[in-house]
Amino acid sequence: NTLKALKYKGRLWPAFDPESIKGVETFKSRDDDVIVVAYPKSGTHWVWEMARLLLAGKTDVPMIEKDDGMIEDVLPDKLEAQTSPRALNTHAHFELMPKEVLSKKNCKLIYITRDPRDVAVSYYNHHRKLVEYYDYKGQWKDYFPMFLSGKVDYESWFAFTRGWEQGIKDNPDLKVHVTSYEALHENTNEEVKNLAEFLGVSADEAFISEVVKKTSFDNMKASKGKNETYKEKDKSEVPIMYRKGKVGDWKNWFTVAQSEQFDEIFEQEMKETRAQKLYSNQKTCS
Ligand code: A3P
Repeated sequence: NTLKALKYKGRLWPAFDPESIKGVETFKSRDDDVIVVAYPKSGTHWVWEMARLLLAGKTDVPMIEKDDGMIEDVLPDKLEAQTSPRALNTHAHFELMPKEVLSKKNCKLIYITRDPRDVAVSYYNHHRKLVEYYDYKGQWKDYFPMFLSGKVDYESWFAFTRGWEQGIKDNPDLKVHVTSYEALHENTNEEVKNLAEFLGVSADEAFISEVVKKTSFDNMKASKGKNETYKEKDKSEVPIMYRKGKVGDWKNWFTVAQSEQFDEIFEQEMKETRAQKLYSNQKTCS
């Protein structure tokens, strides 16, 4: 019950080219860079696409993959060759972020969180379907403890989330826009408007709704979903990165015992955090 990952300086990354992971440390940040940051499966593709269209000022742009802007997955010279303004993304923990980004504080960061229970389910499906990357054959019941203990690439959700919250608190001059997968679902228009404002992009109502429409789950699944697919046991071909796109799918996966175990660990790990306010089960039960 293990998956293939890359250990670099004692930390677990996906099995990318080690040179691209090494490049995170020496990454040269530009004043007009925009970097979407999230633990995997928290809506990175979605928000990155929104940011990319907002920066372009139009929705009619050539299709490129989110991974082409992923700092740890693109070799340094290829990142350097991208024209400004660059829409980038990373799943790096706060303390592993490029040194320049944290010292110069010149570029803009968009930090997204998602209910960790939905993240766990989404990440399980990601690991299961990306066969050539992870060679993972476990079942959900085996994966669940692995996720809780952070034995996956990018390690513990709890540590990642605490680290980013603390990092943002300790660096008030960092330019960060904080949002959540759930808020994006609930009020997509408003959230895109906030993003445009944060990015300093002038966008009228018509453009905002165009961006919302173009980045809808169904549209992105139809246009980009064909690029990476997985053959299910019943032989159906399904997109890997565009699975369900819903809030609360964890309820279809967690047993009662898993839910109780999750709550206990969550409450211990996330005391007095923003994440606790957003995702504590105690809150939703009261
Ligand atoms: P599910 O597996 O729950 O469906 P990331 O981009 O960080 O890898 O996150 C992937 C998750 O976001 C997946 O969740 C995926 O379906 C969902 N997603 C991708 N594009 C989306 C969109 N345009 N709108 C809503 N959810 C989207």
